[in-house]
Amino acid sequence: MKFFVDTAEIEPIRELAATGLLDGVTTNPSLIAKSGRDFMEVTREICGIVDGPVSAEVVALDHATMMKEAEVLRKIADNVCIKVPLTVDGLKTCKALTGEGTMVNVTLCFSANQALLAAKAGASFISPFVGRHDDNGFDGMDLIEDIRLIYDNYNFATEILVASVRHTTHVLQAAKIGADVMTAPPKVIHDLFKHVLTDKGIEGFMADWAKTGQTILK
Ligand code: G3P
Repeated sequence: MKFFVDTAEIEPIRELAATGLLDGVTTNPSLIAKSGRDFMEVTREICGIVDGPVSAEVVALDHATMMKEAEVLRKIADNVCIKVPLTVDGLKTCKALTGEGTMVNVTLCFSANQALLAAKAGASFISPFVGRHDDNGFDGMDLIEDIRLIYDNYNFATEILVASVRHTTHVLQAAKIGADVMTAPPKVIHDLFKHVLTDKGIEGFMADWAKTGQTILK
């Protein structure tokens, strides 16, 4: 499963990229606003840190203007992935852009039928929002299971990008279902490394090693 980080903050992206485990970045207008940075400038900077796809979202609601915005955004770098909302105009834009060889991430997906439409429109990625689904009394992972089943039934190449990930259990469930990608805030990715028994084990080994009085590096 590919790991994307869901942020527009440069330092956490650098830190995670240095682990060698980061496959891409997703941003959205809310994350850009939170960063306080200029959209174009910060997107360019992020594209220079990671080789994988960097999602940059259009903000127009009509197809013609979405195409114009995408034209500006895709010039930023070769690894820009245009993010469009799951609307009629968004999917028209998706179809046109992927037809030209541009990566497209269709966002704000809340049903398996919407995911089916996005795949038919040639989306590179579909972003079902599991956390927001859970928040509204549904099980976000049921949605991922349904999309996996449908995409496998028809061999759609669209990658399932599990978004709105709130905790490590979401990551585990997504991996068990066979989602292609997950995008999570930096904290959730850092939490994946943690286990109390790993910390305890290191503590014990270090204490016993100190008793030997030995060193590996002479
Ligand atoms: O980038 C889209 C998505 O991951 C947003 O997550 O936590 O705002 O629902 P959240």
